[in-house]
Amino acid sequence: MKVAYVTTPGGPEVLELREQPDPQPGPGQVRVRVRAAGVQPIDLAIRSGWRPGYVTDPLPPVPGNEFAGVIDAAGDGATEWQPGMEVLGFNFMGCYAEQVVVGGDQIVHKPKTMPWEVAGGFTAGAQTAEMAWEELAPTADDVVLVHAAAGNVGGFAVQLARLRGARVIGTARPENHDYLRELGAEPVDYRSGLVDQVRALAPGGVDVVLDGAGREALDATVELAKDLSRTRTLYEHERGPKVGVATLSGARSAARLDRLVRLYADGRLTALVRSTYPLGRAADAHRELEAGHGRGKIVLTMA
Ligand SMILES: NC(=O)c1ccc[n+]([C@@H]2O[C@H](COP(=O)([O-])OP(=O)(O)OC[C@H]3O[C@@H](n4cnc5c(N)ncnc54)[C@H](OP(=O)(O)O)[C@@H]3O)[C@@H](O)[C@H]2O)c1
Repeated sequence: MKVAYVTTPGGPEVLELREQPDPQPGPGQVRVRVRAAGVQPIDLAIRSGWRPGYVTDPLPPVPGNEFAGVIDAAGDGATEWQPGMEVLGFNFMGCYAEQVVVGGDQIVHKPKTMPWEVAGGFTAGAQTAEMAWEELAPTADDVVLVHAAAGNVGGFAVQLARLRGARVIGTARPENHDYLRELGAEPVDYRSGLVDQVRALAPGGVDVVLDGAGREALDATVELAKDLSRTRTLYEHERGPKVGVATLSGARSAARLDRLVRLYADGRLTALVRSTYPLGRAADAHRELEAGHGRGKIVLTMA
């Protein structure tokens, strides 16, 4: 199979298309022929040489934590899953590949109405946003502030908070404001006077904050939040906790993913794909994400 391989820590150019032996599923596992795989900011950081604090072993050289495809082999005991089933799911690394082997508890059925490129880039952002709301529990009584609301996580966070009944203020550049309105958020431009703009919309402060941007967004979070225990940052892993803004503590689960996929299938949740690249152009996908601006999700596609 072909994979996009990080040859050495560095810029996007270190991603190279390589051949690897086809992986074989063990007990309770399935092999998925991948049709699409999402690109996340963490992939860029890992490619550059950063590693998450919880990882001590050497990192696998193939990035990617989410995928969608067709099961083509099932190991002993993976009785729920059969070759030919269309699925989406998650793994730690290894998804920029034509095949992945994962446990049967890391996949869910893909609805026929969900395009491959949506499915491949659905898991991480939707689960991250929902994990935040599981921890912060926004309700119809709350004003929620989402920093980086037009991004992958932010777009899901806006919609999922609205489904819980909350009023949502989202930050983005003006070219993304119509998009935020479509999702149900009241947009503000983060580039100047952010705190004053939010105060004009919510004079009493905000009840819940999800920070997907960090830096000035973290400072604004501390200024605007009524109660810092109802804030989370996705970006400021070191400075956030020092100023009272925690990081997420949950883990991805197939049960949560299945609930989110059903919301999509029922037409209650949308997922925007910003652009797609063939696997062999993973470096270009990284270059686009690294630019730091834009709506929705970047996805790799496999033939
Ligand atoms: N994707 C995931 O599954 C995942 C999972 C866990 C954690 N995270 C973390 O969550 C954060 C967001 O991830 P993402 O995947 O949603 O990123 P993304 O899709 O790349 O989104 C980037 C967004 O950031 C906005 N932005 C840029 N500078 C900003 C600023 N100063 N203030 C507010 N918004 C700004 C951009 O909006 P404009 O175009 O309007 O500038 C753009 O829409 C990252 O730190 C990532 O590591 C992501």
